[in-house]
Amino acid sequence: MNIFIDTADTSELEKAFETGLVEGCTTNPSLIAASGRDFKEVIAEICDMTDGPVSAEVAATDYETMMAEAMVLAEIADNVVIKLPLTMDGLKACQALSSEEIQTNVTLCFSLAQAWMAAKAGATYISPFIGRLDDTGENGMDLIHDIRALYDVHGYETEILAASIRSVDHVEQAALAGAHVATIPPKIFNDLLKHPLTDKGLAAFVADWEKTGQSIL
Ligand code: E4P
Repeated sequence: MNIFIDTADTSELEKAFETGLVEGCTTNPSLIAASGRDFKEVIAEICDMTDGPVSAEVAATDYETMMAEAMVLAEIADNVVIKLPLTMDGLKACQALSSEEIQTNVTLCFSLAQAWMAAKAGATYISPFIGRLDDTGENGMDLIHDIRALYDVHGYETEILAASIRSVDHVEQAALAGAHVATIPPKIFNDLLKHPLTDKGLAAFVADWEKTGQSIL
């Protein structure tokens, strides 16, 4: 499963890409607002850091304006993926962009029927929001399992991009459920490496090595 970082914070992204473990990035209007920076400038900066997919979301909700915005965003770099809302206008834009070989990420997916329609519209990625479904009392991970089963049975090539990730457990379970990608906030990406027994074990090895008085170099 590939890992994208879900942020518009370019200093966090720089650190994440330096690890060599991250394949792409997703942003949304809320993340852009949190960055306090110019949208197109941020997307251009991120696209300079990676050749991997960088999702940039349209702001409009009607087809014509979404298409006009998509064309501006797609001009920024070859690796820009146009993020579109899961509405009829969004799916219409998805079909038009797909036919022009512009990559798309259909966002705000909360049901199997929505994921099915996005695949029919030729979406490159579908973004089911796990955490926001969990917040309503549903099990967001069930949706990832169901989408994977439906896409596999019918041979859809749309990639499942698990979004609204809130924990390391979400990342692990999304991988087991067959998501192609998980988009992860920087803090959770850093948490993927952490285990108290690793810290405790390493401290003991360092202390015992010091007792030997030896040096490898
Ligand atoms: C990513 O593409 C989504 O916009 C993001 O994961 C949403 O996460 P949130 O539910 O934590 O805002």
